[in-house]
Amino acid sequence: MKGRTCLAIVLAAGEGTRMRSASPKVLHSIAGRSLLAHVLAAIAEAGVTAAAVVVGPGQETVAAEARRVLAGAECFVQQQRRGTAHAVLAAQSAIKQQHPDDILIVYGDTPLIRAATLTRLRAPLAADAAVAVLAFRPSDPSGYGRLVVAEDELIAIREEADASAAEKAIDLCNGGIMGLAGAHALAILERIGDRNRKGEFYLTDAVEVARGMKLRAVAVEAEEDDVRGINTKSQLAEAEAVAQQRLRKAALDAGVTFVAPETVFLCADTKFGKDVVVEPYVVFGEKVTIEDGAVIRSFSHLAGAHVGKGASVGPFARLRPGTRLGEKARVGNFVEVKEAVIEAGAKANHLSYIGDASVGANANVGAGTITCNFDGGAKHRTVIGKDAFIGSNSALVAPVEIGDGAYIGSGSVITQNVPADALAVARGRQVIKEGGAARLRSLKSLGKKKAHSGD
Ligand code: UD1
Ligand code: CA
Repeated sequence: MKGRTCLAIVLAAGEGTRMRSASPKVLHSIAGRSLLAHVLAAIAEAGVTAAAVVVGPGQETVAAEARRVLAGAECFVQQQRRGTAHAVLAAQSAIKQQHPDDILIVYGDTPLIRAATLTRLRAPLAADAAVAVLAFRPSDPSGYGRLVVAEDELIAIREEADASAAEKAIDLCNGGIMGLAGAHALAILERIGDRNRKGEFYLTDAVEVARGMKLRAVAVEAEEDDVRGINTKSQLAEAEAVAQQRLRKAALDAGVTFVAPETVFLCADTKFGKDVVVEPYVVFGEKVTIEDGAVIRSFSHLAGAHVGKGASVGPFARLRPGTRLGEKARVGNFVEVKEAVIEAGAKANHLSYIGDASVGANANVGAGTITCNFDGGAKHRTVIGKDAFIGSNSALVAPVEIGDGAYIGSGSVITQNVPADALAVARGRQVIKEGGAARLRSLKSLGKKKAHSGD
């Protein structure tokens, strides 16, 4: 589609009452991003030159999400819900201003649409078609508009409520995504009326209107997944499954090893280097990058984290946003890391919380070490130097700095900075009382006897 301008109009006004949710439908997420963000990512990847998003009255959060994902997206409000063609016309000033060669109309609740499919839909517009409709053959066509086709032309789209018995038997259906030639779009849209069962302005009437203007309409067939619309939480879960399958396949094709792919959950933006191994049952949240040769062991949860080359995470590790692991760093079982850098070769292998911290290269953080980053009012940083050794079960009370090569005795509560190469021990001194255990036992047995005798 090189050289042709394209305006995408995204209809995102759905309330989503069938989702049984207080949030607008298109703000629900699959694979870590909103339904609307998926659609906007697809249109951006398909090379559209401008985007208009039509939202319902008061749907400021939907408009904000559109602008967050696509800075140039222009938002329009459809004041009354009077049908899909009426919704498109809410964005008519964008059509008038841009004079695009092509217009793509997509629904905000159809998140699995792929850029390649949109590009295929645009192809006939570059030839001689004024209307191109994305068609599919659902396993159950009920509820969808049926496509009446003759040879290679699309004659009409009949909504189920208005269809005859013969038309209802057609299995080729309207996926809802449509391409319009920019030169004719407004003339077509303005001629659409509301004389149908529902009294709505149906976008689907664009086909018959265009034919009445001696223009050509065609259908372009796609897979059902591309046009899968989301109305319920069940459909949301089904779409999540499809999105996960696609992401896993893409990662496997790029060389990632998943021991059990069906148990790994990815985000649309998860990035992997070469020779990465992901063991079973791992969840990736948003903004995770894994570099070459890293291993993510079972039952780990990562979000907003960067894992360096050859690093090892888990099993049972939690990397929260702001985590950066250097080359060959190791974060072991039951370790939580947040807003912290763990430099090359450093280790925190067991049962630790490392938050708002930096851990120098090759430092060793012993089992049970906690950075006490929160004093009830504010967060403070802990800085651990390179080659430092933090003995097990230490509490590092931030703000605090442990110098390079310093050594912290086990069980210390460190509240003051420790200079480089110093040894710090901050715990009660051990006391030995010879024979003390025996004395304690005899005292206890005395107590028991008294209790029995009732004294
Ligand atoms: C529509 C199509 C149908 C197709 C089906 C595919 C029409 C008339 N029918 O039917 O042929 O098979 O999609 O899923 O187009 N919307 C607005 N404002 C409105 C009305 C709708 O923004 O006034 C938005 C909705 O939020 C939704 C989309 O347009 O995102 C489709 O509307 P919906 O009412 O779900 O259409 P369907 O009856 O499913
Ligand atoms: Ca629908």
